[in-house]
Amino acid sequence: MNVAEKNIINIVQDEEPAVVAMPFDKLKGSFIYIICGVIGRLPFHALRILGLRILKAKIGKRTGIYRGFEVRRPRFLTIGNSSVVGHGALLDARCGLTIGDNVNLSNEVMIWTLHHDYNDRNFAQTGAPVIIGNYAWICSRAIILPGVTIGEGAVVAAGAVVARDVAPYTVVGGVPAKPIAKRNEHLTYDLGDAIIPII
Ligand SMILES: CC(C)(COP(=O)(O)OP(=O)(O)OC[C@H]1O[C@@H](n2cnc3c(N)ncnc32)[C@H](O)[C@@H]1OP(=O)(O)O)[C@@H](O)C(=O)NCCC(=O)NCCS
Repeated sequence: MNVAEKNIINIVQDEEPAVVAMPFDKLKGSFIYIICGVIGRLPFHALRILGLRILKAKIGKRTGIYRGFEVRRPRFLTIGNSSVVGHGALLDARCGLTIGDNVNLSNEVMIWTLHHDYNDRNFAQTGAPVIIGNYAWICSRAIILPGVTIGEGAVVAAGAVVARDVAPYTVVGGVPAKPIAKRNEHLTYDLGDAIIPII
């Protein structure tokens, strides 16, 4: 579609022109996004966590965040103690993302707090916070959608897409995720022991 056609659509829909000056917030957000990308490629958990803390993320003790992550709006990200974030995680904290203690996010997990209203003529953004309870395990390549709460000790199986809240100590899997098992409720491990600090 050429510029003239785009303009016609804009006029018909009575919208703002497609090309507008980038507001300051967008510039600042883009800068933080780029810096976060750089932080995600630094060696050592300590350096990556320091970088995220400088960008106002709240991260507890004995927590590890492996390389290759993408964090959106780090200032609204909270991670507790002794939690592990695996390689290549996408943590969207734009509407608030709270991850508890002893949480295990395996490789390439995606957690989204914002998406679009596909019925809105302007494709409006809409979202809600995500909360991951203590001792939850989100397995590789699972996707958590905006507004979802994962209960304490719950497990999200590899490749699941979670659109609804998950009850504590419940194992869910599939697309959309449904309960597939129950989990032992007497957990005592400390994931802080499992982190390899030099990676
Ligand atoms: C959650 C997980 C451990 C469950 O494995 P499991 O204990 O072998 O599974 P269960 O025996 O409890 O399975 C119960 C049912 O759910 C199904 N199921 C298991 N994993 C599933 C998955 N990822 N998606 C959908 N269904 C799944 C099983 O086929 C079984 O169905 P059935 O009763 O009809 O045969 C496993 O699915 C998983 O995701 N592993 C994580 C891998 C990973 O991320 N590794 C990184 C480590 S840091």
